[in-house]
Amino acid sequence: MRQHSLSHSHRGGAMAAAFVLLLPFFFPSLFTPLSHASPSILSEWNAPKPRHSRLLKSALQRQTSDKQQADLWMPLALQRFKRCTPSASTSPLPEKSTGYVQVFLDGGLNQQRMGICDAVAVAKILNATLVIPHLEVNPVWQDSSTFMDIFDVDQFINVLKDDISIVRELPDEYFWSTREYYATAIRANRVKTAPVHASANWYLENVLPVLQSYGIAAIAPFSHRLAFDNMPEDIQRLRCKVNFQALAFVPHIKALGDALINRLRNPPSTNEVDYTNGLRQDMAAHSACDFGGGKAEKLALAKYRQVIWQGRVLNSQFTDEELRSRGRCPLTPEEIGLLLSALGFDNTTRLYLASHKVYGGEARISTLRSLFPLMEDKKSLTSSEERAQIKGKASLLAAVDYYVSMHSDIFISASPGNMHNAVVGHRTYENMKTIKPNMALLGQLFLNKSLEWLEFEEAIVEGHKNRHGQLRLRKSAQSIYTYPAPDCMCNA
Ligand SMILES: *[C@@H]1O[C@H](CO)[C@@H](O)[C@H](O)[C@H]1NC(C)=O
Ligand SMILES: *[C@@H]1O[C@H](CO)[C@@H](O)[C@H](O)[C@H]1NC(C)=O
Ligand SMILES: *[C@@H]1O[C@H](CO)[C@@H](O)[C@H](O)[C@H]1NC(C)=O
Repeated sequence: MRQHSLSHSHRGGAMAAAFVLLLPFFFPSLFTPLSHASPSILSEWNAPKPRHSRLLKSALQRQTSDKQQADLWMPLALQRFKRCTPSASTSPLPEKSTGYVQVFLDGGLNQQRMGICDAVAVAKILNATLVIPHLEVNPVWQDSSTFMDIFDVDQFINVLKDDISIVRELPDEYFWSTREYYATAIRANRVKTAPVHASANWYLENVLPVLQSYGIAAIAPFSHRLAFDNMPEDIQRLRCKVNFQALAFVPHIKALGDALINRLRNPPSTNEVDYTNGLRQDMAAHSACDFGGGKAEKLALAKYRQVIWQGRVLNSQFTDEELRSRGRCPLTPEEIGLLLSALGFDNTTRLYLASHKVYGGEARISTLRSLFPLMEDKKSLTSSEERAQIKGKASLLAAVDYYVSMHSDIFISASPGNMHNAVVGHRTYENMKTIKPNMALLGQLFLNKSLEWLEFEEAIVEGHKNRHGQLRLRKSAQSIYTYPAPDCMCNA
């Protein structure tokens, strides 16, 4: 599908290319419980004014050349590493399984995704049989979707059939091993003490005996419980095989994702766009940065921190200015708009906002929309019937965004997070274009109020030369899911 876009000139019409923008501010489901609990917070939210009005004025009049456009939309050149084909299976299945490994996974969809990959690896290390992982209901997102509601179980089992054995359910003799069983008392076969980034040996020393005694080990908590360094090569490859090949979304998620991608590439001639967007406050509140909404916004964010984290977020000892110059503040939609304009994207570029239904944030994105009038999201591109199946289900909504993000020509994310890391890693694996904002540079540029547009543009272009998806090798302690090379890829 990606090939379509290459030959298209975008001039004089919408281009048949897809550009996904992940704006982490826009995650609204968090807002739902809050808006019930404390509706006053919403009304205190002021419409923020553009903070960089001089730059904005120039950006609105920007001219871009055809050459610049062609370069931007050109697919990423082949890198030093590429995906391995065919993906060999790891060591053969053991003759006899050592027992059942069961995991209970916290977090949102993308954190659970990493947990699933690690669970397969741990089962492999132990020569055990894996039970399809249990996805915990996230206290914030409240989505009770199971593994089977999100991922294609047949494909999962089938792709990994030569690597490990996986069962959908425990056999009858272990019917007792449920979430409730472990929640109600201390159980000898529950492994509670797995350290963060545990080694393969830790599992052999601590979990294998549990399997031998009880036939089943229930590991919870399990998130981030397997190290990225000093792992056998075949285990690393297996983790990536799970992430990049075995995990596929269920057909109805794929179908909806395909429909979205199709409509992005082939827009209807009349654009009936109905936006009711808003802000994701969790990221904003977490950062202690100033987002230009004035005192009222600061107050609202402080309140929000209180409600969501019960004050667990410490007040930052840095000022907004210090945070910005270190690149520690998420970009606002306005800043993302200026970045994209400076990089050379013109106002016929269609942006897809990867985010779900939102409340009252139109004011915040209106600046971005003035620079990029062709902005779409799930809501503008689908009918309410199409959305019915995923309505209110944070994990399924995130799955659709993940799918669309993986099928776009260009992807850019405004702020780091699990979704960002997962998509960036997966796109690296597929050698797809991904713009990585140079946060420290942007922070410094935006602080300089005397900068002219041309200087800004030049600095942006220069500072993003190697930030269009060029491969970066994983450093020690970094995630193989975010940086799949070299562990999971082959020399090109
Ligand atoms: C796009 O920008 C050009 C100036 O570069 C302007 O003339 C045109 O009206 C803009 N189009 C839209 C839809 O804003
Ligand atoms: C797992 O099986 C392989 C061979 O199939 C064997 O070399 C290894 O020692 C086994 N490990 C455990 C923990 O049983
Ligand atoms: C702001 O940018 C101008 C023009 O490039 C430059 O001369 C000036 O030193 C910059 N100011 C700061 C504080 O970096």
